[in-house]
Amino acid sequence: MHRSAPHPSSRIDTLAVHAGDDPFRFLGAAAPPIFETSTFVFPSFSDAVAAFADEQEHCVYTRGRNPTVRVVEEKLAALEGAEACRLFGSGMAAISAAILSCVKAGDHIVAVDTAYGPARAFITGYLSRFGITATLVDGRDPAEWEAAVRPNTALFYLESPSSGVMKLQDVPAVTAIARRHGIATVIDNSYCTMLLQRPLELGVDLVVYSGSKYFGGHSDVLAGAVLGPAERLRRIGDAEYPLLGGIIGPFEAWLVGRGLRTLPVRLRQHQVSAAKVAEFLAGHGRVARVHYPGHPSHPQYELALRQMRGASGLLSFELDTRDLNQVSRFVDALRYFRLGVSWGGYESLVFVPVIGAMRRLPEAQWPNPGLVRIHVGLEDVADLIGDLDQALRAL
Ligand SMILES: Cc1ncc(COP(=O)(O)O)c(C=O)c1O
Repeated sequence: MHRSAPHPSSRIDTLAVHAGDDPFRFLGAAAPPIFETSTFVFPSFSDAVAAFADEQEHCVYTRGRNPTVRVVEEKLAALEGAEACRLFGSGMAAISAAILSCVKAGDHIVAVDTAYGPARAFITGYLSRFGITATLVDGRDPAEWEAAVRPNTALFYLESPSSGVMKLQDVPAVTAIARRHGIATVIDNSYCTMLLQRPLELGVDLVVYSGSKYFGGHSDVLAGAVLGPAERLRRIGDAEYPLLGGIIGPFEAWLVGRGLRTLPVRLRQHQVSAAKVAEFLAGHGRVARVHYPGHPSHPQYELALRQMRGASGLLSFELDTRDLNQVSRFVDALRYFRLGVSWGGYESLVFVPVIGAMRRLPEAQWPNPGLVRIHVGLEDVADLIGDLDQALRAL
């Protein structure tokens, strides 16, 4: 094997370390250089003509192609087992680009009602300006998707598990319905990543990610990705990518690439620790219910075993109280679980969904104030369980 040839292994840990990287493309640099440049210049007129013939394949301007971004896109595509990948400046930039690539004015979308809030707002609110209608479904029963299909349905939008109460859709069953009707499918796979769920193998057309979560892994970067067949990504590369311009900067892409190298190792630890935390919470007297697809108490545990390879570090649970004073006492007593949105970083976080609803919605529409979401970070799990235990005692 030539020293600079791509690594031949298809094992995920090896791909995470080596895929996309070819040090000898960049003077032997073990870490890819950050091409922090907006534009690229040409030695001659004819070189410029050749480059402009295909701005996706040649570096002309960073809102088309950038070598650092490309290295990371290649690593992600190899990890996903996808033909192609495009990185974006945030998960929402990737999600909106993927959705827009599937619809036109007058179309109809069926989406799961627990999809990430801004994705839902984009589908049901923003797109209505263009005459695009939407039906939200609970989504657990594939028959609901079938029943929601109209002659103008162009897209099924899935998020499984959802990141609030970890609700699953039967991905092979839903994509089979979509295929029968000629409907495109997009799934947000941020919760699992491609390590714990392989949506393309389950029949999905496009996979979208918030790379701000596990890909980056250190709560220091916003990023997004769309993965799928080369022909679909090529069209996105010609249209939504340069025209909406929600692209990622070279430095942010580099941070994602660095994060991906340790993704399998980090995710294994998140998973092991979260399973222990879920078990502790499920047995605690002040906890009414745990929502974790990796725990046998999850109502769709069998489906999780069938279509997922494990659950990640994010879970939620319901306290045995709905009293806001009690809930706030619990949250304020936590020491390792810091209060904030997002997840997927090295650190443990806690969020109470009612906080997000209080300013926006009338009280009758608030979620259960006792619903608490935690991300189980990479701290020693004994410290995390001890932290939850003492905070539950403060209730
Ligand atoms: C499940 C899920 N999808 C998408 C997003 C949006 O990603 P970003 O914040 O990178 O735009 C988030 C962010 O919290 C999320 O939790």
